[in-house]
Amino acid sequence: MAKHPSTVPAKSTQDALTNDVLDGLKKEPKELSPVWFYDELGSFLFDNICELPEYYITRTELQIMHGHAAEMAQHIGPDAALIEFGSGTSLKTRLLLDRLEQPLAYVPVDISREHLFQAAGALAKDYPHLHIVPVCADFTQNFELPQFVRSAQRRIVYFPGSTLGNFDRPQARELLARMRDLVGKNGAVLIGIDLRKDPRILERAYDDAAGVTAEFNINALRHVNRELGADFDLDAFDHLAVWVENESRIEMHLVSKKDQTVHLGGEKVRIGRGEHLRTEYCHKYTLDSFSELAATAGLAVKRVWMDSNKLFSVQLLEPARLQ
Ligand code: AVI
Repeated sequence: MAKHPSTVPAKSTQDALTNDVLDGLKKEPKELSPVWFYDELGSFLFDNICELPEYYITRTELQIMHGHAAEMAQHIGPDAALIEFGSGTSLKTRLLLDRLEQPLAYVPVDISREHLFQAAGALAKDYPHLHIVPVCADFTQNFELPQFVRSAQRRIVYFPGSTLGNFDRPQARELLARMRDLVGKNGAVLIGIDLRKDPRILERAYDDAAGVTAEFNINALRHVNRELGADFDLDAFDHLAVWVENESRIEMHLVSKKDQTVHLGGEKVRIGRGEHLRTEYCHKYTLDSFSELAATAGLAVKRVWMDSNKLFSVQLLEPARLQ
């Protein structure tokens, strides 16, 4: 099951979603939210991306977890409530749960009810003594934790997968600050952060030879067509992954192959030949730039685990002590 920054909000009306998409298409450059990646096919494609030889992220993070989960568990300590933002295949979570000393509870938080209960159900089978408390919520917004989790001595937010990189800096800071508030002064955040590296490695990771990422990107248009009755011509766009040095991020774009008009919500959107639709940001941090970002959210980096090539990091953050 795919990990993602957020999902198309179920409660929003068709009209609100249509207006959101139209607003993005009126921007300069045009934008389409990455939430549109993740329908059933998109989640399947993302799972395939995670297995690609060029996409080092999942493999490397798993390798770090295999090597260091025991040490991470030691830092976390006994009786902790582990709160995971966005519940994925939970492979990495299991590596951590296997080593935690008497965890009080595991609280997966996900907006997709179906994914949430599937993942929680699978875990419950393998961890019969673990208290599993699924919370169906959009973790980018405020949400309530069950009372007994709120009163746990040590609350840990686990946010693997480099998903923070998909948020722009103000959003990333806000999300980190929300995590800090949720864990309180005795808590901690364990987070996957992808690191800056040779742009050629990055561009390949987001534009693989088999074309899976290209299909994943195009599928956002298919999803909008189906959900909102638009008529994007899926064959009329090229996938592009470009490294933007001054923003330290990969951007995924769809580039129009021709002058075209798309119909959506009773409006006509003109897209010129060669015009770009920006669909995703994937920020890459240095240890310093991430530590600075975390500090602006009141979090201090306590420990960093990396693979030997320093491609990826898993970082333990704690609320910064006031001087
Ligand atoms: C979900 N997220 C961490 C992925 C990433 O690498 O930023 C999304 C993705 N986009 C293209 N490939 C993978």
